[in-house]
Amino acid sequence: MAPEKTFYLETFGCQMNAHDSEKVIGTLQSEGYRQVNSEEEAGLILYNTCSIRDKAEQKVFNRLNDYKKLYKSGKRFGVLGCVAQQEGEKIFERAPYVSLVSGSASYRKLPEMLARLESGENRITGLDDRQTDETFETEFTSRQNPYRGYITIIEGCDKFCAYCVVPYTRGKERSRTSDSVLEEARRIADLGYTEIQLLGQNVNSYKDPEGKLSFAELLAAVGQVPGIRRVRFTTSHPRHFTKDIVEAIDSVPTLCDHVHLPVQSGSSRVLKAMAREYTRDWYLERISWIKAAKRRISLSTDIIVGFPGETPEDFIETMDLLAEVQYDGVFGFKYSARPNTPALVMIDSIPESEKAHRLQVLLDRQREIQRANYANHLGEVIEVMVEGQNVARGQISGRSSQNKPVNFTWPNPIAPAPGSYLQVKITATHPNSLVGEAV
Ligand code: SAH
Ligand code: SF4
Ligand code: F3S
Repeated sequence: MAPEKTFYLETFGCQMNAHDSEKVIGTLQSEGYRQVNSEEEAGLILYNTCSIRDKAEQKVFNRLNDYKKLYKSGKRFGVLGCVAQQEGEKIFERAPYVSLVSGSASYRKLPEMLARLESGENRITGLDDRQTDETFETEFTSRQNPYRGYITIIEGCDKFCAYCVVPYTRGKERSRTSDSVLEEARRIADLGYTEIQLLGQNVNSYKDPEGKLSFAELLAAVGQVPGIRRVRFTTSHPRHFTKDIVEAIDSVPTLCDHVHLPVQSGSSRVLKAMAREYTRDWYLERISWIKAAKRRISLSTDIIVGFPGETPEDFIETMDLLAEVQYDGVFGFKYSARPNTPALVMIDSIPESEKAHRLQVLLDRQREIQRANYANHLGEVIEVMVEGQNVARGQISGRSSQNKPVNFTWPNPIAPAPGSYLQVKITATHPNSLVGEAV
């Protein structure tokens, strides 16, 4: 009997990577591999990597540092994802015990690459498919999240923002047909999922290859799939944010009242240098559409501080934008110079300490904005989808439609199942979460 094939997979980075991993796991399982929970138990060790910032990339190489012993004992290592695509064969030099390097656009070839690995081949690469028109659809998706079903609707990115590696690591934009997206949505609903998250690096630049549905129409159609109670979508790009998205949220109650719309900077001058293709005013106009919706739509964003040439005045414009928009969540990052990107040659004149200072000022201010925003929920009754339990605190945890974490008490000894929906009365608030009791 052939020895059992086992694998361990660890995922870094964004939700696209998390969902790619679900497809990779499904593909490996269909090839006869069994997933295990530790490197010790595994014959094949895979990392699905992220290179968005320097720190993310370092995490992977720290892992791969000292695997000589494990390699000698017969274990094999593979690097998948964005660091794989970015560094390519250089990975074999930096980490000599790696046998497989594949970017996300080549995962369709995983069965073939695995077969080569099994036959003893080394230095196997899947790196050449970034110009492909194909997406990585698989019938074998092994969903790891018990209550939220992810669906990739568009892969890649054509935007080439000056600081960003994604267009180089994930290739050009390619969308799936709306028919195949809806079919997957129905399949997920049949499995019992009630929440769907549509994914894309620029989810709203979705273009149906058959021209049947616009992005907003697709959103509405997914929201009308029987059994689906919540639909989220991420990440939207301001450049493609159209009014009909707000209209869809207004008219289809299952579309969650939350939009993540990364702004990156409040200064039009910096936005221009970043090649974001919009100005502060253009962005704020989209925000005004969202704020004019019939339902209150929660807003969140991403911001980069310390982009090359960002002056104290530019930074103040970003701070003013925070005060104006009143986000419910901000992901703030210090600019990190990345390989291949146009910003790499810009003079990165802002010292690390100043970047750190700006980030701290930004996050402190945002915390106060959120403290006030979250306090507005006091006394409300909110629908929460249960995600888990904090036994030590005697609390159930979940999320509101606006994607706010809610921790609450529950009167019965038997905890509600993950994925169930409850009405919760909010009795206390924090800058990042709500506290309540089930009613
Ligand atoms: N496609 C999305 C963003 C994907 S990357 C969009 O355009 O909005 C997620 C976030 O990482 C970005 O929004 C940006 O804020 C941050 N980011 C990307 N490259 C970065 C870099 N080189 N340094 C610091 N932050 C970066
Ligand atoms: Fe990166 Fe810009 Fe593409 Fe977003 S839109 S993934 S920030 S290049
Ligand atoms: Fe990271 Fe690649 Fe996602 S760089 S953020 S894993 S697209």
